[in-house]
Amino acid sequence: MATTRMQGALALVTGAGSGIGRATAVRFAAEGARVACVDRAAAAADETAAAIKAGGGEAFGLGADVADEAACARMVAATVERFGGLTTLVNSAGVGPQREMSPSEEFRRIVEINLTGTWLVSQAARTALAASGRGSVTNLASIYGLVGSSRSPGYAGSKGGVVNLTRQLAAEWAPAVRVNCVCPGHIDTPLTATLMADAAWRATMITRYPLARFGRVDDIAAAILYLASDEASFVTGAALPVDGGYTAV
Ligand SMILES: NC(=O)c1ccc[n+]([C@@H]2O[C@H](COP(=O)([O-])OP(=O)(O)OC[C@H]3O[C@@H](n4cnc5c(N)ncnc54)[C@H](O)[C@@H]3O)[C@@H](O)[C@H]2O)c1
Repeated sequence: MATTRMQGALALVTGAGSGIGRATAVRFAAEGARVACVDRAAAAADETAAAIKAGGGEAFGLGADVADEAACARMVAATVERFGGLTTLVNSAGVGPQREMSPSEEFRRIVEINLTGTWLVSQAARTALAASGRGSVTNLASIYGLVGSSRSPGYAGSKGGVVNLTRQLAAEWAPAVRVNCVCPGHIDTPLTATLMADAAWRATMITRYPLARFGRVDDIAAAILYLASDEASFVTGAALPVDGGYTAV
């Protein structure tokens, strides 16, 4: 059922070609937002935009790499040109552990996309968000931005950076722009497909979840919707765990 919690919102969602970003873009559109769907995978971004349009919403797809500063400027310019402004940014583009790389290469690559990419897009969007009078940024951190991971220093380092970058920008950009992040537990998306296919991993990991399940993309899209919408107009600098209780125990 379509509602109007994002009526008049002009949104840019990175990583919109898959997983949490796609679910967020679709949910935003269902709530009345116009949505720029950005992803390094251009065809996937176009697919999300096409799904939104098929449902009666307004969207366009754009292929761009968040680690490329010039591309960040272009994605914001394209959104402003198309929609006449920008009210809402969601930084969902991100990568998990890159096992084919050496530990040092992996660390640099993950930080470049997950942390530096979040900064580059946010910086490019700041002026337009501030000009809108209702600007918000919602970043994708992780439970591994709050506690350590047994698997990837680069992933945990990048997400811990996203949590404190969120606080920094919230302080620096107030009152014009609100900046928050969500810290999801394990969500069933292509990013976690290898883990989710591993029965032994699932059996062990699920014991760490008080709510006794892994997450769904819609669990995260709902939290992002709240933080991005005007309902959260007094919320900035928050790091909201959406993790079935993982970080509570
Ligand atoms: N799935 C989880 O369990 C989980 C948990 C906590 C946090 N997160 C975070 O949520 C975000 C979304 O994850 P997801 O599970 O939806 O992953 P996903 O792999 O399904 O989607 C990520 C999307 O980001 C895009 N992308 C990757 N690098 C990019 C770049 N440099 N420029 C532009 N686009 C790029 C990919 O093409 C992909 O479409 C990520 O930041 C991830 O770290 C995911």
